[in-house]
Amino acid sequence: MTTNYMQYNLIEQLNETVSYIKSKYNKQPTIGVVLGSGLGNFIDQIKVDAEINYINLPHFPVSTVKGHSGKLILGKVNEKDVVVMSGRFHFYEGYSVQQVVYPIRIMKMLGVKTLLISNAAGGVNTSFKVGDLMIINDHISLFTVNPLAGKNEDGLGIRFPDMSEPYNKELINKAKIIAKNLGYDIKEGVYCGVTGPSFETRAEYKLIKVVGGDAVGMSTIQEVIAAVHAGMKIFAMSIISNMGIRDEENEVTHEEVLSAASAAEPKMTAIFKRLINEL
Ligand code: HPA
Repeated sequence: MTTNYMQYNLIEQLNETVSYIKSKYNKQPTIGVVLGSGLGNFIDQIKVDAEINYINLPHFPVSTVKGHSGKLILGKVNEKDVVVMSGRFHFYEGYSVQQVVYPIRIMKMLGVKTLLISNAAGGVNTSFKVGDLMIINDHISLFTVNPLAGKNEDGLGIRFPDMSEPYNKELINKAKIIAKNLGYDIKEGVYCGVTGPSFETRAEYKLIKVVGGDAVGMSTIQEVIAAVHAGMKIFAMSIISNMGIRDEENEVTHEEVLSAASAAEPKMTAIFKRLINEL
């Protein structure tokens, strides 16, 4: 599955993409942000220096999901240079895992040292409710493909990266203090990554709870693995957009996920903005 993509010289491709970005933007952002489904309004916080549609970026995949606008935004948040992915790539869209993490590698090559990630996730911790924010303190990959499978590019990172603390404790602590000062009730927990695109069955949501998950989603894990490989500090947060474990007979819909994520977005944006200020 990885072989076709690996026929190309990955480093050469990355260099071509980076050169294109540098032809439009000549700063070195040290902070990267990945915005999840329904969470695109964070871009209003950016003093934009350059905006590049994915479609114009050489070797970049193109996002297809509703709620993902598909552009790279380079600019300042609180006077800090940032690169923001408005729209991410998911395995369920048909991309290879290497394509899913391609932008993370681009961010690294642009100079990013700290990565902030957001997503919408289904809650399986029964103390959660729709609209809650959950800081991710660890993750479990449930059958998602590892993006580092295949030949290791030593220039990008080591063959066997340690995953004992993918989510930076210092950033988690800072975010908790920020949330407290803002008066937000913030949860913390384990994110389980699945491939999607179907939502989980009731039995699967229960399984995810039993194996130690607090929330489940279809993104993030692969980006985090690539970012750990690249030696970045990571902070990630989920908006609980729906409850997986529930008494009601309701179905789970993408529309509900998007609207719950949008409703809770201002809180997430406020936390990200203040966290960026402290980096
Ligand atoms: N399951 C998987 N991914 C999700 C969910 C869910 O319930 N909600 C938002 N993303």
